[in-house]
Amino acid sequence: MKILVVGTGAREHAICEALKGEAELFSIMSNQNPGIARISDFKVASEGDLETVKKFAMEKKVDMAFIGPESPLEKGIVDVLEKAGISCIGPNKSAARIETDKSFMRNLFEKYKIDGSLVYRVFDNYQDISDFLDEFDRDVVVKPVGLTGGKGVKIVGDHLKDNQEAKEYAKHVMETKMGGHPRVVIEERLVGEEFTVQAFSDGEHLAPMPAAQDHPHAFEGDEGPITGGMGSYSDKNGLLPFMNQKDYDDAVKIMQDTINAINKEAGPYKGVLYGQFMLCEDGPRLVEYNARFGDPEAMNVLPLLKTSMVDICQGIVDGNLKKAKFENKATVCKYIVPDGYPETKFANQPIQVDEKSIADLGGKVYYAAVNQKDNVVYTSSSRALGVVAAGESIEEAEMICEEATQFVKGDLYHRRDVGTKELIQKRIDHMKKIRR
Ligand code: GLY
Repeated sequence: MKILVVGTGAREHAICEALKGEAELFSIMSNQNPGIARISDFKVASEGDLETVKKFAMEKKVDMAFIGPESPLEKGIVDVLEKAGISCIGPNKSAARIETDKSFMRNLFEKYKIDGSLVYRVFDNYQDISDFLDEFDRDVVVKPVGLTGGKGVKIVGDHLKDNQEAKEYAKHVMETKMGGHPRVVIEERLVGEEFTVQAFSDGEHLAPMPAAQDHPHAFEGDEGPITGGMGSYSDKNGLLPFMNQKDYDDAVKIMQDTINAINKEAGPYKGVLYGQFMLCEDGPRLVEYNARFGDPEAMNVLPLLKTSMVDICQGIVDGNLKKAKFENKATVCKYIVPDGYPETKFANQPIQVDEKSIADLGGKVYYAAVNQKDNVVYTSSSRALGVVAAGESIEEAEMICEEATQFVKGDLYHRRDVGTKELIQKRIDHMKKIRR
């Protein structure tokens, strides 16, 4: 089986590692990711250049393509490849609107009466925003309708002082067409603990994976700007220390209902569905969906996968997906980023990664936005690499992971507190306080 993986980052490196040994691997990536380069026949090209991706896939006679990031999905890469006879793991352009068009997603919840939604409105003019916010008595979140890599979302009480400031920001989002649309979504701000559930989907059946929790803030103690994610953890039992089995099952049910609704509106959703939930006083509510694996959360679940990844991909394509099995282990992933991230001033710096010492400790490295030139690995403006460890408990995985980070050298930073006992206890106490 020949499989093409599209994408450049740690998520795609983890996908390639999960397929390695079962399939002949090909990849298209925009920088030379050393982890992907050494296990695939690769081409350095833009993942969004659909004609180049198609040409490469046809030249190499691949049987299947696994699409890692959201932006080629938004451009319709699956429609292009399927037309050329190549099956894809990833939704077509219309089904990918579950991520790329937030108004499509929220309207779906309303139309099909799916549980776990929240108060939201989609606006295209300032007067309506102003009238709505003058009446609304809770804090809000302002989101561009389209894709902004997470960076366009602003939260009252976090990035915005109050709902008055939210008005001005919403106006700016509309006027600059942030995310590609002159529209903006305003949602109630949920209070709780965020968690992620990812699931494979063949359009009808879901194969859910262990829950994980990401850390979007740049700095320790959940301070600083929102980033793509600074690290994540998962627990041995597939749940998280602040949630119970019912919370998880309710989240999976919301995802199943969503898949059924997408099927009616846009046809079968084939790929990975990423549900980001807020566990609130009354259970999980859907914050947003991604039409792909999470990054870093892919690194928590894929190293534990016991079911053949090729069988899962084939099940997605054929529409007879079975449940996926995972090792009963806890994991911790810490993202190592250039000093100053999410600013860009320290890009293009060489880094040294002693993978052997990391492996000797039981850790793994997944390369992200780095570029290899003449055997030297350079940072770019984004996250450099994920260090991941598994263990019998989150505490054990965290200790191995933290120890392993010392073997990555350069002008780099990571959040030492990801997966620590103290931070997790904070989450448990928070949840206890708000639970009904
Ligand atoms: N963990 C955030 C994301 O994958 O978008």
